[in-house]
Amino acid sequence: MTDSEIARRHLAAIGVARELGALALDYYSNREKLAVSMKGAQDFLTAADGAVEQRFRERIAEAFPGDGVMGEEAGGENAENLWIIDPIDGTSNFARDNPHWCVSIGFLRKGIPEIGVIFMPVMEELYEAVRGGGARRNGKAIRTSGEKDMGRATIEVGWSARLPYASYIDLLHKVFSSGAQPKRSASGALGMCYAADGRTDAYLELHINSWDVAAGVVIAREAGAVINDFFAGDGLTKGNPILVATPDLAETLADAMALSRSSLLKPA
Ligand code: IPD
Ligand code: CA
Repeated sequence: MTDSEIARRHLAAIGVARELGALALDYYSNREKLAVSMKGAQDFLTAADGAVEQRFRERIAEAFPGDGVMGEEAGGENAENLWIIDPIDGTSNFARDNPHWCVSIGFLRKGIPEIGVIFMPVMEELYEAVRGGGARRNGKAIRTSGEKDMGRATIEVGWSARLPYASYIDLLHKVFSSGAQPKRSASGALGMCYAADGRTDAYLELHINSWDVAAGVVIAREAGAVINDFFAGDGLTKGNPILVATPDLAETLADAMALSRSSLLKPA
């Protein structure tokens, strides 16, 4: 694939993310019409999730008919040119009128993450990156905080009902013991952006799905973060742990998560 074909997809992803953000915001702002159900324990689903993913599939079919699409709501299979969408990440926030949610769009070429676009409609913040081309928030280049000292670090730790709670308590114990301050804001995609943008110093989660991170891995790496090799093994279809951290905190945090240091990828 040529650079111009990647550039065309990057521009398209930004346009579609804004369109999908407006669609999601319409549901968010008309709460009386917002049907909320549960997919499982602590796993929210709203009418907006399916509608946003469906619109995305239509837009990709029109613009790039040969490309594959995988999404949180309707699934999908691997493809040489693969789009991965999380229509609303931070659904529990969305359902409760908390503005910390986003639309997340990633693009992989032959398994390599190439493009990441994450749009936070309420705050009108757009994070985007192309592999090798830096990362930006609303057009301005972003970098990690560069924090070296756990005693000053704020580290977001995500969790879900997919793993036993004891594993998260163990990880939180290690984060507290390192001197860092943990927090959770309930959107993995935004958690990665915030670590990339210096708003926190790291994002950790012991299991997360590919639609949550496909965009964030490109943005984080291009912003100078160390990340783990999320797409190794069955990461695409079954999920994996995710680590995003400043270069000086990454190895300590990988140890806390029992991730091998060799799974860490240097910043772009
Ligand atoms: C969840 C959020 C959450 C993370 C979970 C995800 P959803 O996605 O990203 O922060 O901890 O692992 O499943 O349900 O909001 O799309
Ligand atoms: Ca999600």
